[in-house]
Amino acid sequence: MKIFGIFGDPIEHSLSPVMQNAALLALGETACYHAFRVGREDLSVALLGAKAMGFSGLNLTIPLKEKALELDILKPDPLASAIGAANTVSFTKSGMFGYNTDGWGALRALYDAGVEVRGKMVLIIGAGGAARAIAYTLLQEGAEISIANRSIKKAQELAAQVDATGYGLIELEKLVSKADVIINCTSVGMREGDPRIIGLGLLQSRQAVFDIVYNRDTELLFDARVAGAVAVDGVMMLVHQGAKALEIWTGKKAPIQVMESAVREALRARSASQG
Ligand code: ATR
Repeated sequence: MKIFGIFGDPIEHSLSPVMQNAALLALGETACYHAFRVGREDLSVALLGAKAMGFSGLNLTIPLKEKALELDILKPDPLASAIGAANTVSFTKSGMFGYNTDGWGALRALYDAGVEVRGKMVLIIGAGGAARAIAYTLLQEGAEISIANRSIKKAQELAAQVDATGYGLIELEKLVSKADVIINCTSVGMREGDPRIIGLGLLQSRQAVFDIVYNRDTELLFDARVAGAVAVDGVMMLVHQGAKALEIWTGKKAPIQVMESAVREALRARSASQG
């Protein structure tokens, strides 16, 4: 039996176990993927424990992705190093390796929706961990990036690292009008009743709008569909970041549709149980 897992805190709401167990079953692996609550101070000992117990692979989530890069026991690949965070760990004879598949997940979610980023004006809203992973990956793909964030200082810091320009949210209306692809990397929209991150009537049919929020269908995506724009939800980023991790661990092609169905079903069940 192969053992996989995800470490993080909080971890109860992670959809990775349901998604990865469905995928492992579809691949015919005799395997189990479990969520473990691990805080920052315990990451090193937990990773060594997982290695000692013969784990085949791990995901890391909040608040461990950045912490992982501070540890000598983990060797990050060049992309994880550039991003400064790892969400995937593989255990091999030559050591423990760290990867970042979040940006890849976003890129594949866009490609699957028919959205090309090379040479396009991409507006990233937000400057946290997710924005960082996506900005680095899209930069490598040849996108022209602008970053708008509530804290302008954070936008400018990230922008300086990825050859982009950073702005405050006050400039959003102007930036939206120029963008080909708009990506919401903030947590706005996660809760019902959140204000709109982009004001009504600003989106255009020629645009693609990607919201990394995956726990509900957001107002931003509703507005994008009304405008006739391409609307891509965060479920597909979750699925593709997990698919890439699975491919790193098993060398097998991940069953994308099985993973997507498992996540959407779990989200439906969750929203039904919340009334
Ligand atoms: P993640 O790792 O998921 O990206 P994060 O690092 O906490 O999470 O980043 C959250 C992002 O959402 C940040 O860009 C944050 O803006 P600040 O840097 O100004 O804090 C943004 N964000 C959160 N709540 C917001 C709100 N109400 N309005 C606008 N931006 C918000």
